[in-house]
Amino acid sequence: MSTAVSSSLQRTDLESTFTDRDFAFFARLVYEKSGIVLADHKKSMMFSRLVRRVRELKLGSFKAYGELLRGPDGEAEVGDFINAMTTNLTKFFREDHHFEFLESTALPRAAQRAVQDGTRRIRLWSAGCSSGEEPYSIAICLKRAASQLRPHDVRLLATDLDTNMVSRAAAGLYPKSAIAALPPHWRNGHFHSTDKTREQVAVEDDLRAMITFRPLNLLHDWPMSGPFDAIFCRNVMIYFDGPTKVRLVNRLADLLQPGGWLFIGHSETLLEHQDRLRLVGRTIYERIA
Ligand SMILES: C[S@@+](CC[C@H](N)C(=O)[O-])C[C@H]1O[C@@H](n2cnc3c(N)ncnc32)[C@H](O)[C@@H]1O
Repeated sequence: MSTAVSSSLQRTDLESTFTDRDFAFFARLVYEKSGIVLADHKKSMMFSRLVRRVRELKLGSFKAYGELLRGPDGEAEVGDFINAMTTNLTKFFREDHHFEFLESTALPRAAQRAVQDGTRRIRLWSAGCSSGEEPYSIAICLKRAASQLRPHDVRLLATDLDTNMVSRAAAGLYPKSAIAALPPHWRNGHFHSTDKTREQVAVEDDLRAMITFRPLNLLHDWPMSGPFDAIFCRNVMIYFDGPTKVRLVNRLADLLQPGGWLFIGHSETLLEHQDRLRLVGRTIYERIA
């Protein structure tokens, strides 16, 4: 039976209830549901991320939270549990060389390919989009390339496991500081202030309209059949173990156009996939035909 307490306990009271056994159970569940591996040294990080949820639910201990997740109402809580455990760090035009490559090379070539094969179809995917900065950065590049892309049917999909992040991404609202350091060509005309203090900016509607936001677990089946001209899957695989990463990259490669591009995070490599993906720039891979 879970222990509901009438007044929520302080963070310090709850700290003493967080055992190695609780950590092992939660780490196993995160791995099974998301592929994210949490080594033992992540115990304090896990505590900080889950304690708020334990207090919101007015539970007296982490053990009680584990019992809730294992019990008949567990499935209903798993989503919030996973949302609490994901790492969502991101920013606009993170690794700006990816977006320079997208504008200068990938989009013009994709436009040419779409004319040659007669499909007039260009598809892009931000897989693990977090709070939206990545797909909006892609959308800004698409808007800047609009004259080359106009005759084409261009679609940009943005997905994440964390449903809170998908909602935030779709809302397109950010603190002004998030765009302060962007160069003018990537900032001007793409955002407007929303409040009197001008501390919050909203992404322009035409950019939001370019993107389809959806929750999607990369470990599960995918409803899309591709092929994609470019997939951004950056700083997602770093949390996965080797076999999960190999499976995921193979599935991403399956969905890429021959000659399409996979963009990965700055600390990631794809050494196991050299027969299918060729390195063509810093952390940019091209699908071998
Ligand atoms: C560190 S963020 C990276 C955001 C962005 N791609 C970037 O590089 O700035 C990692 C994102 O991957 C998502 N993620 C983790 N496991 C996932 C899974 N199994 N399926 C889909 N998304 C996942 C997390 O929710 C998080 O938003």
